[in-house]
Amino acid sequence: MIITKDYKMGDAILHDPKILTVLTRFNVKLGFGDETIEQICVKNNINVDFFLELANTFHDENYFTENKLKSFSLQLIVSYLINSHKIYVGNKIPEIEELINTLKYDNEQDAKNIIVLKKFFSGYKDELINHIKHEELNVYPYILELEIGLKNKKVSETFFERMLVYSASDYRDEHSDVELKLFDLKNIIIKYLPPPINFEKCNVILNKLFKLDEDLKNHSKLEERILVPNAIKIEAELKKLKSENKIDFI
Ligand SMILES: [Fe+2]
Ligand SMILES: [Fe+2]
Repeated sequence: MIITKDYKMGDAILHDPKILTVLTRFNVKLGFGDETIEQICVKNNINVDFFLELANTFHDENYFTENKLKSFSLQLIVSYLINSHKIYVGNKIPEIEELINTLKYDNEQDAKNIIVLKKFFSGYKDELINHIKHEELNVYPYILELEIGLKNKKVSETFFERMLVYSASDYRDEHSDVELKLFDLKNIIIKYLPPPINFEKCNVILNKLFKLDEDLKNHSKLEERILVPNAIKIEAELKKLKSENKIDFI
């Protein structure tokens, strides 16, 4: 089923709660009444087409319309990605961490296993935070500057030189797979942490990890298959403009 703008927002969320995950990244609160997706988007100043692409991507893992997504501005995509980062760091990770911290043990082996899990999770958290910091401090600003540079046909010489040294393809090549470590984390819980005393809680943690994993996969897909190719395209256009002397240097 493809979600369209005429669907009632409430029905769409009842049909698939993942749509709510997308909505929270646009700072939209509940209380939709009978309003359609389009009405809610207009009211909240959200690009309806962009929202629908994301909602459908979350709804169906086979849905990913690269060409359509590539048509949106990098500014729009980056602000969505930054909002997603905020939710990972501010909500998802603390929620899981809190649950892990409340795991109980009644024998020495379980106690040791829980310590291993805590250490592993803390390592994962640091890795994810560093990944996010690097993107927000270096990569995204660079990509946004590319877009502005092309729009105004004006870039600074320093920026142009930097572009020749570090390009979007370097970012893609070094883009670490933050989902990989999550796989190990799930493995630890499934294989080594099923003490009956924590059975329910382990299931809740696992479920949250699976959801986070899926969310991060969609996030990386946007970065690698939309953001990077568009940035590479702009880099090539800027180089071409320079070779034709059609760009101003400031
Ligand atoms: Fe990211
Ligand atoms: Fe990333």
